[in-house]
Parts: sequence; structure tokens; C-alpha cells
Amino acid sequence: MKPTVLGLRGKKGARLAMLTAYDFPTARLVAEAGIDLILVGDSLGNVVLGYDSTLPVTMDDMVHHTRAARRGAPQAFLIADMPFLSYGTPEQALGNAARLMKDAGADSVKLEGGEEVAPIVEALVRAGVPVLGHVGLTPQTASALGGYKLQGKDETAAKRILDGAIALERAGCWGVVLELVPAPLAKLITERIGIPTIGIGAGADCDGQVLVFHDMVGMFSGFTPTFVKRYAEVGQAIKEAVTRYAAEVREGSFPGEGKSFGMKDEVLKRLYGT
Ligand code: KIV
Repeated sequence: MKPTVLGLRGKKGARLAMLTAYDFPTARLVAEAGIDLILVGDSLGNVVLGYDSTLPVTMDDMVHHTRAARRGAPQAFLIADMPFLSYGTPEQALGNAARLMKDAGADSVKLEGGEEVAPIVEALVRAGVPVLGHVGLTPQTASALGGYKLQGKDETAAKRILDGAIALERAGCWGVVLELVPAPLAKLITERIGIPTIGIGAGADCDGQVLVFHDMVGMFSGFTPTFVKRYAEVGQAIKEAVTRYAAEVREGSFPGEGKSFGMKDEVLKRLYGT
């Protein structure tokens, strides 16, 4: 049964497993494998659309991919990322969240930032939009954070992330993603807030974990962070399959026995006679 936001808020210590999915077949596979939460992340910019960051991802991209993922996983709890510059004001955030939930079928939205986005989260939650927060390394503002690297190493930076998570809880988020922060800081935040933390590169003490699907199945050949564990080498398997197919076509062994269709002799004879 699909989890409710109220149910999710209470999932402290539940070890929720979340993965990204951006299309029909992946969402279907991930849901059939029993994942707890599916994120249509704006990481789709990197791993599907071929950009070198998440910044070019548009609302239209997010709506298009969320719709496809929803068709693949009609019963899943589906979270859609609000892309860069789509939630600058409460009005803009509400309009765009409405597209993701009403037009595309998301159950929740996710947005990046700490204390500075609390008023936006409050407005969304007041309007009935479930929100997942995201602090630590926030890819949409990665260049302002010094690039894709560990956040919260010193006391000031760590306190800012902790305060951000607390502000998100107060603003009404049902959970918070902690990305690329030291494991002891993630543990402290997990103990300090009453809503689930979902870690990525944040150690084992979060209430859940999330990975980018293409990273964990070996389907992305670009930069892969060290915290990612590869559970499969799907990219390699695809390359091998394509190489074999091309070789068989070239040598004439595909399509072979049982891979083509015949027709009635008399029909063929008549055709040859014309
Ligand atoms: O866009 C995304 O996939 C994300 C996860 C890395 C949490 O935000």
C-alpha cells in the first residue's frame, strides 16, 4: 500500500530505501523490486539529458519525466524535484508544485536549501503540498558551495546545515535529504530532528538512504562519487549486448531461426509472377 505523508513522518529509524527513476520502465522495475520511495530527481539533467549539472533542467522536463515515472509505478510514493529557479517566491513555488502534483501525479515535491527556503516550504505545506527538504551539498547551488564536495566540515558550516534541517522540520517538511555531509553530522541531525533523514553520502545513521539509479547500476559513465556502491554493471551488459547484435547482423546470423515470419506459397508465387 502507498505510504502516506503522515506515515512517512513517523518513519524514524525505519531505514527507508529510496532510488531515483525518470522513466516508465525504470520506475516499474524499481517499484516491482519493492523500493520504499521513488524520486524523480533533477539529477536527470546529468544522467539522462546529458547536461553537466542540474541547472538546465526545466519544469517541462520535470513534468514530462514525472508523468512517465508515474505511469510505470502507479502505486509508488513518488517525489518530484523542483528544478533550479522554480521556487523563488511562494507564488512561483505553488504554481510549479501544482504542475508536479496535479498534472504529473507526484505525491510530494523536493526542494533544496535550509533556513532560506523555510518560508517557501511553509507556503507549500499550508497549501497542502508535502515537501521533502534537502541540505548539505545542494547540487543546484554547488558552485556557490565550492563544487561537488563534502559539506559541513567545520563548526560554522556544520551548524548552518543543522539549523537548516531544524528550520525545514519547523516549516513542515515530512523528511530531509542530507547530501555529502560527514557521517557524525548526519547522525547528530538525525537525532535532533523528529522527521526522517534520508542520506546520500551521509553515512549509515540516517533514517533512510537514496542513490541515483544510473550510478548504482553502472549506467552512467560520467563522474561517480566515491560513496556510490555499484550493485550491477548494466552499462557494460548493454555494451556487450549491442556489440553482439551488431556482429550478428553483419555476419548474417541475426535474424535467425524463429526470428522471422513466413507467408503462404501461393501468395508468394502470385507476387513473383507480377
Ligand atoms: O536529483 C537527485 O537525484 C537528488 C538526489 C541525489 C537526492 O536530489
